[in-house]
Amino acid sequence: MPYCFECKGFAPGLIEICPECNAPYPKISSPVKGTWEYEDFTLQQHKDVLTEFPLFLQKINPARVLEIGTGHGGFSFLLRNSLNDMGLSEVPIKSFDVIERECYDALRSHGVEVSVQNLFDPSYSELEERELIGNYVQSPGISLVLCDGGNKRMEFNILSALLKEGDFIMAHDYAPDLQYFNEHIKGKRWDWFEIEDSHIEEACKANNLASFEEINFTDIVWVCKYKEKSESNAQ
Ligand SMILES: C[S@@+](CC[C@H](N)C(=O)[O-])C[C@H]1O[C@@H](n2cnc3c(N)ncnc32)[C@H](O)[C@@H]1O
Repeated sequence: MPYCFECKGFAPGLIEICPECNAPYPKISSPVKGTWEYEDFTLQQHKDVLTEFPLFLQKINPARVLEIGTGHGGFSFLLRNSLNDMGLSEVPIKSFDVIERECYDALRSHGVEVSVQNLFDPSYSELEERELIGNYVQSPGISLVLCDGGNKRMEFNILSALLKEGDFIMAHDYAPDLQYFNEHIKGKRWDWFEIEDSHIEEACKANNLASFEEINFTDIVWVCKYKEKSESNAQ
């Protein structure tokens, strides 16, 4: 069933406009649920992130998190709780969005550093805060960069160039390609598809990014890569 982000409800029969002929028609309902309540926040993820992300964080033990796209805060809060449970309450989560939301003060009081600031230029082709973000990601210890903002493809391509060896970058609403999305994901696990392998192939090659395969992220529509040691640094 389509979800309305304005009234925060599921809206049966919400009208959509056909991009081909401009005719209004009701949105096709789907069994996929894209929004959950997580404690006092709203989470826009497949529900299996609730088990998979805590496991992932335990495996990689990050020193900091950068999240693009705070949304309604549920995912940021899940990350915060998971890190706290690991004894990592000092690990910072810097989360950015372009819309101030009521829930952000509560999120801040729980230790998520939410900023309402666009890090990117209006055409989403450059990082405007290169020094701030570069210094943050380049600090010692593993950085985890999460792309779930307004343009995941550009976020991944721009931010992946800032990683140091051992750092991780992920993007949401991912499927390997359109055929995989149509056959395995759409109407079954997730209805949103914004980034595929061909969008990030060059950045992965240029920045020496390898797939992290210890967790099945494809099922929860995230892509997960880490920066490998370059050959000159590998022992
Ligand atoms: C899909 S929602 C994020 C969902 C959230 N990560 C979650 O899992 O619950 C996408 C968010 O990206 C935000 N956004 C759009 N453009 C952005 C930008 N340039 N920088 C940061 N966030 C942006 C939108 O305001 C929206 O809140």
